[in-house]
Amino acid sequence: MQITQAIVRTPCPEMIHGLTTANLGRPDYKKALRQHAHYVEVLKSCDLEVLVLPPDGNFPDSTFVEDTALLTPKGAVIARPGAPSRRGETRQIKRVLKNYFQNIESIKSPGTFDAGDILKVESHYYIGLSERTNQSGARQMIRVLNDFGYSASTIRLKNLLHLKSGVSYLDNNLLAVTGELIDHPLFEHFDQIKISASESYAANSLSINGFILIAAGYPETRQAFQKTGCPVIEIDLSEFRKIDGGLSCLSLRF
Ligand code: GLY
Repeated sequence: MQITQAIVRTPCPEMIHGLTTANLGRPDYKKALRQHAHYVEVLKSCDLEVLVLPPDGNFPDSTFVEDTALLTPKGAVIARPGAPSRRGETRQIKRVLKNYFQNIESIKSPGTFDAGDILKVESHYYIGLSERTNQSGARQMIRVLNDFGYSASTIRLKNLLHLKSGVSYLDNNLLAVTGELIDHPLFEHFDQIKISASESYAANSLSINGFILIAAGYPETRQAFQKTGCPVIEIDLSEFRKIDGGLSCLSLRF
């Protein structure tokens, strides 16, 4: 599916206090800004118009805009982040999305839902049940997606932060999977690129308008992606990795 727009948010200095389990040290803010600027340039080179929102120091993790909403051709769904420190991120995003979407639904309490937990494969949506996304959030999302005319199903996660930390859809029935999602019965009908633990961060990649975007520094995965015949673009995301942020988390795309 051709996409035309992306929304990103410049990281704020407070990102150095972002939620993390990574044990990789604190991000270097200036380096993160440079990496983010490169990310924006790459999105533009994939034929996307990019809206860059200003930093929001109230929310250290607010650069990870993907978690705040699910955007579909039929409408948007505002998430309800599972981490209390991130919950308020959705307010401003909803205001922005009103400029693009007439139909905007929202996940409500007691539901929690991080949109990093949802993977679109053609007209089906896989929803990860994680520490951030609960049953109520998933049920609400499935109801909205069904109303939009899409199918959806859940998958229980054991270790992954988000579903998309462990799987990406690269079009043409091809998934990139890692960790607990390798050989998962739910995905057995897909062709798969299986990513080893040492390169697991690269499983969170993006297929945009015929290009594949991958975090820099994962040569085996890059080679496997190149075999698809699509141009593969690397982006250094070392500073975002330090706060558990992946490549897809940094943008909303539609
Ligand atoms: N630091 C990204 C997250 O935990 O949501």
